[in-house]
Amino acid sequence: MIRLHFSNILTEEIGENGISLLEIENEAKKSISLLSKKPYKELEFLDLPFQDISKIKDFGKKAKDYEYFIILGIGGSALGPKVLLEALSPFNNLRKEKKVFIYDNVDPATFKYIIEIIDLKKTLINVISKSGSTAETLASFLIFWKMIRDKKLDVKEHFIFTTDPEKGNLRLIANEYEIPCLEIPKNVVGRYSVLTAVGLLLAEAIGVKSEEILEGARAISERAFNENLSENPMAYLASCLYLMDRLKNRKVLVFLPYSDRLRTLSEWFCQLWAESLGKEGKGTTPYPSIGTTDQHSQLQLWMEGPEDKVILFVTVENHGFQEEIPEEFHNIEGLRYLGGHTLEELINTEQLATEMALRKSKKPNMKIVLPKINAYYIGQIFQFLQVVTSMAGLLYGVNPFNQPGVELGKRLTYGALGKRGFETEGQEVKNYLKKKGFIV
Ligand code: PA5
Repeated sequence: MIRLHFSNILTEEIGENGISLLEIENEAKKSISLLSKKPYKELEFLDLPFQDISKIKDFGKKAKDYEYFIILGIGGSALGPKVLLEALSPFNNLRKEKKVFIYDNVDPATFKYIIEIIDLKKTLINVISKSGSTAETLASFLIFWKMIRDKKLDVKEHFIFTTDPEKGNLRLIANEYEIPCLEIPKNVVGRYSVLTAVGLLLAEAIGVKSEEILEGARAISERAFNENLSENPMAYLASCLYLMDRLKNRKVLVFLPYSDRLRTLSEWFCQLWAESLGKEGKGTTPYPSIGTTDQHSQLQLWMEGPEDKVILFVTVENHGFQEEIPEEFHNIEGLRYLGGHTLEELINTEQLATEMALRKSKKPNMKIVLPKINAYYIGQIFQFLQVVTSMAGLLYGVNPFNQPGVELGKRLTYGALGKRGFETEGQEVKNYLKKKGFIV
């Protein structure tokens, strides 16, 4: 089981920057009680570890027959798969025969490079969109669709759609062209969907057993409502982060894994935290980080900059490799002391030293400990952070499953690109472009 260390947030450790155990435990109990009322149907993500995955496994077998596997999707439809690829098959495209591309940002140059590498005849394209209406995903889908058809290839053989069970443009196309489909359950929203076919098909395609991911997540789902706080680290973490904001005005949350394989987990978590909680003037700003690299980039700011941050370390006890640093240059102390240690010792010692330095400077910090990085613990950390974020949303009193703030930008894009029904927004864009601003 992954563990949470939170003593470096307590008053006895960091003085007036800290909070008391009593305050934390009161709030933690409240978060469990709020969650137990299941106030949102979208909490269905907690049931995902118990789903039937036979169809996903069948599609996974099919995906193994293709040399290239492309995901088209963005936000919650791309970041979870990116984490799985990076954590469970690092440097996949250099090491493995099956090449995987996750195309999310509609950058034309990225598109060009992917096209130069792949052979469409050997490519399976998984279009992931819960709504089936996201401009970025649909635009890249349209391009690939035309390319597949222009090459006289069978669209049924080269596309899979992962989308809402009933609604949306992808459903319409799937019905007409008999495109194989996987479902994102109706009540599961994008950024909480990694444990659906969104993440699990990719896992199967790269040879990871999705049941192991779900087994890890199950251990968290089973504890989410547990009122015995020693069994419910999610409630502690949600409550610590919430109180650090509300009582100590700590508005920046630095998410700091010490593992390259968890680099994208920072991005995934930052989307989850920002989009779920940033509402009604509430929420805190997540900052995606990576250790040890950011010790040489950001640490100065965390140690001596504004008193507005909480640092959340994620450490890995066993990295799975024990590369020893050779004992050379005995007469040069600057190199001698490194000899005989391992890279694992070094990265973990650097983390410990940073944690201690922050504590000594009275900076609030906490630590999530992963015993190792494998399918089981990746499943656990996904579900762990999803539960923490939902609980935090309930403590803030916001709906952690909607994102009303992103709608306006989408409507203006539709208007600018001439979508019917968005003429007013289109005009607004034209007027804005005509305005004389302060341009230098
Ligand atoms: O969490 C969310 O709902 C969003 O971030 C979505 O994942 C993102 O906007 C993509 O949406 P869709 O899957 O509908 O294309």
